[in-house]
Amino acid sequence: MSELREKAIAKIAREIAREIRSGMTLGLGSGSTVASILHELASFLRIERIKVGSVPTSLQIQGVAEREGLSISAYRGTVDLVIDGADQVDSDLNLIKGGGGALLKEKILMSSASKSIIVADKEKFSPRLGMRGVRVPVEVTPFAKEAVKKRLAQLGGDPLVRMLPKGYPYFTENGNIILDTAFSPIDDPRKLEATIDSVPGVVESGIFTIKPLTVYKILADGKSIRLTA
Ligand code: A5P
Repeated sequence: MSELREKAIAKIAREIAREIRSGMTLGLGSGSTVASILHELASFLRIERIKVGSVPTSLQIQGVAEREGLSISAYRGTVDLVIDGADQVDSDLNLIKGGGGALLKEKILMSSASKSIIVADKEKFSPRLGMRGVRVPVEVTPFAKEAVKKRLAQLGGDPLVRMLPKGYPYFTENGNIILDTAFSPIDDPRKLEATIDSVPGVVESGIFTIKPLTVYKILADGKSIRLTA
């Protein structure tokens, strides 16, 4: 990570830390950005002696949280604050998520959180979702693969089964496959999210339109912009 990015991450983590009180439960999204934020955040929490519980969305981020000394909590249907990353952010702060395959738990946590904060580098921002070749991950129960592929194609999508480098299909921690689906730029993310989610066999789509939302955009000069919707 560049020094400037490290500086931006540390500043964002400090701002997030100000919103955290002892006894809160954090929802932890997955990916490298959350891992960097957690590293800084955990040290602030240690210094300030703030004790929180955390609900991880994957084994990846659970490992990070454990290494940083955060205690892991069971999910009891709600969390106080979600901290997460994103693969793409549009001008209305709708998101594409699921590049790391953790979209299902990420959406469950975000939809039950009192507050959600996303942190993303400036390259991930685009006027509309689906631009610059960013595909929408769709988590699907394996039995429904062919039916869902057909339906996504009818919706104008180009679904590709996510594969591991050695040629095996990728399975999520929930035992499902992912169809990474290209769409031409998405005009109405809320409508497409609802349509995809209504297809039998679809477990969850990587289009996130949940609001309210705070997004930190990491700039190249070590600064960041805080956006809300
Ligand atoms: C995990 O499934 C995703 O939703 C991540 O939030 C997304 O892929 C961003 O990951 P990075 O922070 O590693 O880019």
